[in-house]
Formats: sequence, C-alpha cells, structure tokens
Amino acid sequence: MHTKPIGIFDSGVGGTSIWSALNQRLPHEDTIYLADSKNSPYGTKTQQEIIQLSIKNTKHLIANDCKLIVVACNTATTNAIKILREKFTIPFIGIEPAIKPAALHTKTKAIGILATRGTLSSELFHRITDLYSHNVKVLEQEGAGIVQLIESGQLESEAMTQLLKQYLQPMIAANVDHLVLGCTHYPYLIPQLKKLLPPEVKIIDSGEAVARQTEYILNQHQLLNTQSNKAKCLFYTNTQTKVLASLIEQPAQVHYLDF
Ligand code: SIN
Repeated sequence: MHTKPIGIFDSGVGGTSIWSALNQRLPHEDTIYLADSKNSPYGTKTQQEIIQLSIKNTKHLIANDCKLIVVACNTATTNAIKILREKFTIPFIGIEPAIKPAALHTKTKAIGILATRGTLSSELFHRITDLYSHNVKVLEQEGAGIVQLIESGQLESEAMTQLLKQYLQPMIAANVDHLVLGCTHYPYLIPQLKKLLPPEVKIIDSGEAVARQTEYILNQHQLLNTQSNKAKCLFYTNTQTKVLASLIEQPAQVHYLDF
C-alpha cells in the first residue's frame, strides 16, 4: 500500500508549484499529476461545477491506485474538499490560503490576498479569515485573467504586468506587509511580484506547508514510502503538453490524456 502513488490534481498547470515542494520533501514518493486545463479556470465556475470536476479528477486518480490525494488548487479545496472527504475513503490534503501566518506576523496590520473569485466567495475562506484576522485589515483581490495567461504560457507578458500592477496598487496604498498567494498558479509570478511590491512585503505561498502536512498524514496512516528508489512521476494534461512541461524543473514525461 505504501508504495502506491500520491495523486495530485489542479484546474491546470499551477499545481505543479505544489508538486515541486512535495517532490523536494518526499523524493521517494511516486506521483500522478492531473492538469485539468481543458476546464480551466475553476475560479469563475459555480460551486456545483467545481465539485463535479473535483469528483471526476478524484475518480480518475483512485482508479490509478493513488493512496492519498493532494487537491493542489485553492478553488477546488475551498469549494469541494468537504464533499470529497465525505464521498471517498482515502486521505485528502487541501490548499487553504495562508491567512493565519500573514495575520499573525503583520506589523502594519494590513495584509493582501490574491485569489480567484471561487476561493474568495467560499464559506471556507470566510471562516479562515474570520478566525485569524481580528484587528487586521484583509485586502481581498480577485486575480481575474491571471490563470488564463499562465495556462497559455504568457507568464512574462506585458498583459500580465498590467494586471498585476492593477491588482497590487490598492494593497500597496493600504500599506500591506504580507501578500498571500491564494491560488497555486500564482507562485510562478513571484519574480514579477517582487519587482512590483515594496521590498518589505513578504509573499506567502503554501507549497512547503502542504508538503509538510502531506508527510505528516502519510506517516499517521502508515503510508509513507520508505523505499529509497527514485520516484516515478507521471504528468497528464487534457490539453496541449507544452506549458505543463515547461514548468516542471526535472526532466519529466508529460502525456496527453482525455480525462
Ligand atoms: C483557477 O482554476 O481558477 C485557479 C486554481 C486555484 O484556485 O488554485
């Protein structure tokens, strides 16, 4: 059982930022990554649509013998993980926006969160924000259009710079000292964000925390792969493979699959 792969899914290529953190921390774990780019973005869909897509991805990963699933998508986590945990018996790890560390460490008492509409409007997001942000101003910003640009490989385009400038401006004006990245696509923008933000603003993404939590849960369920052979990592996308392949650091095989 412990040698079975970890399943990972996202609305597209962004969850590879989580896969990288996982692969670094757990280099012996086999993984199967599903990029549902055909249905991207999830962030503008209804909760029912997000739940249906998340169930479809989960069924596919379970059919491929995965022992645990990482929902490497903030929108799918905040809208669907409760249902997935009720419907399926294997453990799920979700990606919640890191409001807590930002709210605990802010000195200016102002933090920014960049996320999709689906995440910002979810009950789980409101619950986390209410819980951790007493006396802290939380500036919420929908990153409309960003995921589409990343999915089409336009990470460093002028259109991206203009969107980021527009979205960061109110946060800079409000003197935020932490920016929470509430979408797994956004860590790929950290170099651009650093150029546009004042140097004292700390950017927080969830990759390492998710990798730590995955290790902890695997251990709890006695599912950690204790063998020392190099992991087999498979990547599948239901659109073209080029953008997905360009984001994975190690040489990896990316396959087209109509799932
Ligand atoms: C999206 O598909 O809109 C973004 C995925 C995410 O929230 O991580």
